[in-house]
Amino acid sequence: MSYRTTPSVDYVEDVSPGSGALPPRAWYASSDARSLSLNGSWRLRVSATADAEDESFAEEGYDAGNWAEVTVPGHWVLQGDGAFGSPIYTNHLYPFPVDPPYVPTENPTGDHLRVFDLPTDWPSDGGAVLRFDGVESCARVWLNGTELGEFKGSRLAHEFTVGELLKPGRNVLAVRVHQWSAGSYLEDQDQWWLPGIFRDVTLLHRPAGSPGDFFVHASYDHTTGEGTLRVDSDVEGRVTVPALGIDVATGEPITVAVEPWTAETPRLYDGVLATEGERVPLRIGFRTVVLEDGLVKVNGRAILFRGVNRHEWHPRHGRALDLETMREDVLLMKRHNLNAVRTSHYPPHPAFLDLCDEYGLWVIDECDLETHGFVEQDWRDNPVDDERWTPALLDRAARMVERDKNHPSIVFWSLGNEAGTGRGLTAMAEWIHGRDPERLVHYEGDWNCRDTDVYSRMYASHEEVAGIGQRLDGGTHKRRELPFIQCEYGHAMGNGPGGLADYQELFEKHERLQGGFIWEWIDHGVEHAELGYAYGGDFGEELHDGNFVCDGLVFPDRTPSPGLIEYKKVIEPVLIEGDGTNGTVWVTNKHDFADLSALAFEWSCQVDGETVESGSLAVPALAPGESAEVKLPEPPVDGRGGERQWTVRALLADDTSWAAKGHVVAWGQFAAGARPLPSIPATDRPVRDGDRITLGPAGFDARTGALLSIGGVAVGAAPRLDVWRATTDNDDGAEWQTDTRYGMLWRTLGLHRMRHRLVSVEAGDDALTVRTRVAPAAREVGLDTVYRWTSDGERLRLTVSVTPEGDWTVPLPRLGVRFGLPEADRVEWFGGGPGEAYPDTRAASMVGRWQSTVDGLQTPYVRPQENGARADVRWVELGGLRIEGDPEFWFTARRWTTEQLDAARHRTDLTAGDTVWVNLDHGLHGIGSQSCGPGPLPQYFLKAEPAEFSFVFSTTE
Ligand code: GAL
Repeated sequence: MSYRTTPSVDYVEDVSPGSGALPPRAWYASSDARSLSLNGSWRLRVSATADAEDESFAEEGYDAGNWAEVTVPGHWVLQGDGAFGSPIYTNHLYPFPVDPPYVPTENPTGDHLRVFDLPTDWPSDGGAVLRFDGVESCARVWLNGTELGEFKGSRLAHEFTVGELLKPGRNVLAVRVHQWSAGSYLEDQDQWWLPGIFRDVTLLHRPAGSPGDFFVHASYDHTTGEGTLRVDSDVEGRVTVPALGIDVATGEPITVAVEPWTAETPRLYDGVLATEGERVPLRIGFRTVVLEDGLVKVNGRAILFRGVNRHEWHPRHGRALDLETMREDVLLMKRHNLNAVRTSHYPPHPAFLDLCDEYGLWVIDECDLETHGFVEQDWRDNPVDDERWTPALLDRAARMVERDKNHPSIVFWSLGNEAGTGRGLTAMAEWIHGRDPERLVHYEGDWNCRDTDVYSRMYASHEEVAGIGQRLDGGTHKRRELPFIQCEYGHAMGNGPGGLADYQELFEKHERLQGGFIWEWIDHGVEHAELGYAYGGDFGEELHDGNFVCDGLVFPDRTPSPGLIEYKKVIEPVLIEGDGTNGTVWVTNKHDFADLSALAFEWSCQVDGETVESGSLAVPALAPGESAEVKLPEPPVDGRGGERQWTVRALLADDTSWAAKGHVVAWGQFAAGARPLPSIPATDRPVRDGDRITLGPAGFDARTGALLSIGGVAVGAAPRLDVWRATTDNDDGAEWQTDTRYGMLWRTLGLHRMRHRLVSVEAGDDALTVRTRVAPAAREVGLDTVYRWTSDGERLRLTVSVTPEGDWTVPLPRLGVRFGLPEADRVEWFGGGPGEAYPDTRAASMVGRWQSTVDGLQTPYVRPQENGARADVRWVELGGLRIEGDPEFWFTARRWTTEQLDAARHRTDLTAGDTVWVNLDHGLHGIGSQSCGPGPLPQYFLKAEPAEFSFVFSTTE
């Protein structure tokens, strides 16, 4: 071969999609054609610029013995402990000058080499193709010294014909990968920039007479119960589906009675497309997607998306995911009642779509396209409105549609994300509509819906969504006829998102609202030896967006966060309501397609949170949308006069592919009587003895009125008013939301540094009263706070009265008392659990008896922040104390102070001190979703208002 000493790198900055690759086609695993995975250990050399090294490495016989080794699929910046560079995280800013199509001269370039032996029995007939499933961002490829071509489009498949180049025995595959290219301008998604060959590389035998491409059309007519199958193939053959008795020629439609495919009932039929040279396995799902009466309907029924946005992420491997990780995502989604995924913001690994077909999830398949960084210049020079780029956009659209068209789970094609508007998008939509009229087109950036079949928005407030639901939003005439989805809402960054139940109520109330997709599935934290999980800035990036990349419903290791538990409850497909006093339960089937025959129902009755009796409940197999009233059994006879409640659960009646029999799908709880409140007659009198005052079991400092001990339990820091919380990402808000970022406003006011002025300590006849004023330096607002202690000789009651004074223009983060205990580990409580809850994230908080430890109460948000509160607590026991609330309270305990939590940037900044800090709160401010959306709704504000609340302390020994 010949090569230049100064390599040509013009293709890197060329707006075209590339050259040499085959036209896109359906992606599948053949039944009988051979394939050879070229995944594994590859040689790697990273250079600082695109042209630093000549092309001689591609030549046969090149000795790469001194090169490093990396694993393919993989990103080189996540391998080699930083030796090959580091990841960069930006949300929408391009990490290079906006100078399209040019990229910096500093352009990390990874030369990859793989030597492989062609198996001795590799068939000699036909041809072969080499397939790359994903390379970021631009690759140039040689086989045995011959150049095959170059391509862009990182999360799309590219194939090259290689039949004539393959040799018996040793073959050398060389791939030059550039981190930056013209393609990078089209790939400005909010995620880590991670160069590399991050998806599979495969050599595929293409026998003579094998199909190049085929398109499975499988529709369902809900009026007749019949499906029509037609498989178009560029090479003729026969299509067989044994379970349906189908044996038909390609291109011929055939109509037979079938069970339809839906996300709830993912019936797939195995079939085969047999051509002269190959047998191609088919997994056929019959369903029809239409826009009708202003609604998205599948098989004749409007559907409601209970969805999530999924980026591909693994804390060690980045976007190089293995099958088991993909399956874990799907199983977790199914187990948490999700029914839909938007593949934000690029087509996923094709195996993920197979899993969606198999387990049942509606999919919005999104093209690998985002040009968000152009917003910084008012969208000037935006590639999607510049004809020179249109071929690249059409190439991306075609590579998505052709690769993925045979997946029944896909109901929408999405043009991309946050790319403004322009002629290129229109061209993509037109092409897609023409190529696949059997699916709908989505794109959020097009509020006039010129190119789309659905009105889609992100982070619209509840108020706006309600208006859209009532068709009061105006818009173009076309938009008014379209259904609405929130392709992103509920920003799951840190603690939250709040307000999901309120959105769901709207989605279920207004027909036009067809649900939404939480932003997003997983925190993109990078596993890091010192920091736990790294986020933006941790690799020394000059531009970055911090922990905005950690905004998922699952933590980086895929442990569900409280946000996922909340979402599961909010979207449960069965509504269980009841009236515990008259023993009636109403069950409503909220599925779109499935009846309730897959579920079994159970009732249980609790006294003071402990289950005293349980049994099964006969609920009819209601059709979707139907409700039934069911009677509970007679309440169990129980002498105890405690608080009674019923809990009814809907469980899987049998094992399914995604969860075992007994898995809880939905539940409801209803009180069967009022909670008896703790009553403590104030019979004891405070007694002064030197510098101490004794009252019942408690000792106080006579001068300050501070509680020192209760019985044998020393109180390390006395209870006093606390209004501060380590602000959450949602409290801090997004930088563009200036007016209502309470995290900032609270700090400006000084709520994180309140001072306590002692006014008086009064030992009266039946109470010790401590009067104080709590206020921040430099401000005139304050909280008059009175602590009134009483006792019946054994127990101690604290009543706190708070009266705000001055002009309070902000809500309070929290209102309660904080104190310190020298020792505490095990925690038991009767109240909401098992996980954390806040005023607008409390749907999943189930009242019961729960146990944990202080460490177990913490929610490990990647960036530490307020967490771990338990709602509706009647009583809690820890550190030798029992604390009862009048009324119920919010309970939090941690081994560090709120101030330490507030200062921490990573989990590893938090180290246990020698005090356990306990917060007993009368109120908490809501959470909302303001890290990228609306704040808490007004009803979840903790207003600065007069309040009074009590706690009763006793010892457990
Ligand atoms: C949206 C965007 C997402 C993500 C999110 C914030 O605007 O589409 O990619 O950036 O905001 O996390």
